[in-house]
Amino acid sequence: MKSAGEKIAMVTAYDFAMAKLMDAAGADMVLVGDSLGMVVQGQPDTLRVTLEEMAYHGRCVARGLSRAHLTIDMPFMSYQVSATQALQNAGRLVQEGMAQAVKLEGGVRSAEAIRACVEAGIPVVGHVGLTPQSVHAFGGFKVQGRGDAAAERIMADALAVEEAGAFCIVLEMIPADLAAKLTERLTIPTIGIGAGAECDGQVLVCNDLLGFDASFKPRFVKRFAEVAPTIDAAARAYVAEVKAGTFPAAEHTFDGGGRLYSSGK
Ligand code: KIV
Repeated sequence: MKSAGEKIAMVTAYDFAMAKLMDAAGADMVLVGDSLGMVVQGQPDTLRVTLEEMAYHGRCVARGLSRAHLTIDMPFMSYQVSATQALQNAGRLVQEGMAQAVKLEGGVRSAEAIRACVEAGIPVVGHVGLTPQSVHAFGGFKVQGRGDAAAERIMADALAVEEAGAFCIVLEMIPADLAAKLTERLTIPTIGIGAGAECDGQVLVCNDLLGFDASFKPRFVKRFAEVAPTIDAAARAYVAEVKAGTFPAAEHTFDGGGRLYSSGK
């Protein structure tokens, strides 16, 4: 797709229903991101997510996909200790989570882990720039790669990821001109999030693009829907009808023969 100039659409999903909708909508790649720690579990960061949780959500998502490619994030401390640890845990995400690829954060520091997985036949997506598992080292979720020295470090990280054998790389929250340079320099596709329009593809968290949380609107997110007010109105209507005794109505009720009045089934 990179060489054909066709943009790659990646999106996160964490369960069967969302995966099925994103697959049907034409997403090329679905990512079970460790962002699930924040958007599914309600935690302040991604650091407490476990390998078992990633594998569980991976299985749920895999059942909803019929064509999109499935990548699962390796959670914090599942690959940083050694290349052997990385390979063992990547293997678990393939076997237990049904991953077709794993994603891990870091450039030069993660190159050995990436190489070990790739040599064992597990495709790897790299991730540089703002790597959320290092949030405490960064002092918050801040744009990375501003200034020449920081930009050079990210360039070196991205080249190390490519050299280690990753088949694509996520660039998160870096200046657009740096992302454009990386996209030109690398032979593997770049997937941007807060990295401008020149990347080979884009990724967004499904909850963000759908507007699940009206209070969360970082600059790099475009809300393609506002589902929070729709869900709120539906939930309020349901509660009101239950309280008023108007739901369920006759058409939602079985007769003695186990038939639905409305459909005759
Ligand atoms: O965890 C995640 O969802 C991610 C994407 C935002 C790239 O890593």
